[in-house]
Amino acid sequence: MADTTKGLSHRFVRDWLRPQWAWFALGAMFAAVTAAAAYGYGEITMRSIDWLGTLDSRIFTVTPIVIISLALLRGTALYWQTQANNRGVQRAMVEIQHALFGKLIKGDYARLQAAASGEYVSQFANDMNLIREAALRVATNLAKSTLTIIASVAFMFSKDWALTLLLLVVYPLAFWPVVRLGDRIRGISRRAQEQAGELTSFLGESFQGARTVKAFGLEEYQHDRARKGFEERARLYLKVLRSKAMVDPLLEMFGGLALAGLFAFAAWRSLSGQATVAELVGFITIIGVASPEVRALGTLNSVVNEGLAAADRVYAALDSQPTVIDRPDARPLGKAKGKVEFNDVRFSYPGGGPTLNGLTFAVQPGETIALVGPSGAGKTTVFNMLLRLYDGSSGNLRLDGHDVRDVTAMSLRRNLALVSQDAFLFDATIRENIALGRPGATDDQVKAAAEAAACDFIDALPGGWSAPAGEGGRNLSGGQRQRIALARALISEAPVLLLDEATSALDSESEARVQLALAGLAGKRTIIVIAHRLATVRRASRIFVMDAGRVVESGAHDELMVKGGVYARLAAHQLT
Ligand SMILES: Nc1ncnc2c1ncn2[C@@H]1O[C@H](COP(=O)(O)OP(=O)(O)OP(=O)(O)O)[C@@H](O)[C@H]1O
Ligand SMILES: [Mg+2]
Repeated sequence: MADTTKGLSHRFVRDWLRPQWAWFALGAMFAAVTAAAAYGYGEITMRSIDWLGTLDSRIFTVTPIVIISLALLRGTALYWQTQANNRGVQRAMVEIQHALFGKLIKGDYARLQAAASGEYVSQFANDMNLIREAALRVATNLAKSTLTIIASVAFMFSKDWALTLLLLVVYPLAFWPVVRLGDRIRGISRRAQEQAGELTSFLGESFQGARTVKAFGLEEYQHDRARKGFEERARLYLKVLRSKAMVDPLLEMFGGLALAGLFAFAAWRSLSGQATVAELVGFITIIGVASPEVRALGTLNSVVNEGLAAADRVYAALDSQPTVIDRPDARPLGKAKGKVEFNDVRFSYPGGGPTLNGLTFAVQPGETIALVGPSGAGKTTVFNMLLRLYDGSSGNLRLDGHDVRDVTAMSLRRNLALVSQDAFLFDATIRENIALGRPGATDDQVKAAAEAAACDFIDALPGGWSAPAGEGGRNLSGGQRQRIALARALISEAPVLLLDEATSALDSESEARVQLALAGLAGKRTIIVIAHRLATVRRASRIFVMDAGRVVESGAHDELMVKGGVYARLAAHQLT
């Protein structure tokens, strides 16, 4: 925990609630009206008792009119108070979520990769609920309850200061254990939310992996794992609830004590003629109005502590410093010619062994080269480095002679068009998925790119170009997904195309068509192809063979075959 409770809540109020101050000020104004009405209740009760004693006719006129007016006034003010606070809190929530999402999505790729996606989803769902709840309660109760209590105390002081002092000593005593409980709730809530994140991850994984679950008959296995998760969730949640459950009874007990003390004291004062019955009834009325507010303040503490635990996590994410960031003097890179160089690049994934071990190779603008090599050799990592999703530990890599760390990441990536190994699509229409590669793409450009990527299946889809791709592209077959991803890369004007197993799922005919389209780009765009299939790479002007993070051979297909090295061996297996 980076902040103290006080520091954290100050910061939260400053960052998110203060910008909405106008709404909260409006809410507080209505809260003041409710507090004034409470004071009025005390007054009218006292007077009415007097009138009752003397059979004053005002008991039939003034009393009902004032009480009904006060009720109407208080009710209306309560409604508008809630409305104003809701507005303020909802607006603050939009800002918090927007800031958190922006921080996460713009932050280090490594960080997004490292945590299970469920943790982020959970952070949005659960933490935001807790924060919303806490902010609403603070906005509603703090003004209304505090002002009502102040008005009540003021009323009591004006009638009987000694009695008031007694109450002021007894009531706060009740708060001490309640505050202590709040600290505990915050600690438990933090753990409960972490576990909720793990559970969300597990659920997401189970449903996304439904095919594997069913194919391997893992339903019972997952079912049991889920039960453990639910039980743990219930256990932690019960712990939070147990602490929260103690708040109300504690306040109830102290409330009863206070009432008993009040009667004893008042009786003693009445006997000595220092207090009237009307005063006593006025007191009881005002306590009746004030005690729900006291109680609300008591339970507010536990809700706020849950919210603070959530805010703590949000701030941990907001405060994290990305490591792959633009240097202060980074320049935007214009449209590159497409020369790519790796010079003795070394790199390890966080927590992993060395993946690139002095990788060196160069690609000329307009050239088509291939990266081949055994699985795990580090081919995809080459693309990750070039896109600057990670920074290398030594050596350098350049685009058009610019070290990738000297230019802004945004401008660097605009020069690169990737088809990733997983051919990821968004849950948008087919047309949108292609057009995403080029802002403002026209229909003709989309059609041309789809044509080049052999996407002739689109017209046959139910919905055609407007067919939804589904989450991650699940409405399409693997090969269809690849071709849409390819079209998205081809439509972009990036001078460098990065194709990571981009045609591995295509039938030979479609692949041949894609190859033809790519051949048409020769001289215009630099193309780096990663592939295992010989047919995909043999036409490359040069083939770099990678093994264990470095280039072990390079040359054209025929040269490498003659050499009889790693490439010839890989090729031999495919030909047989
Ligand atoms: N996000 C990651 N975190 C940690 N290690 C990783 C990560 N991604 C890859 N690696 C490791 O880096 C090595 C190279 O992975 P890479 O994905 O570059 O291989 P590849 O040559 O593309 O293999 P393939 O042909 O199977 O796609 C592997 O040993 C892998 O375990
Ligand atoms: Mg790979």
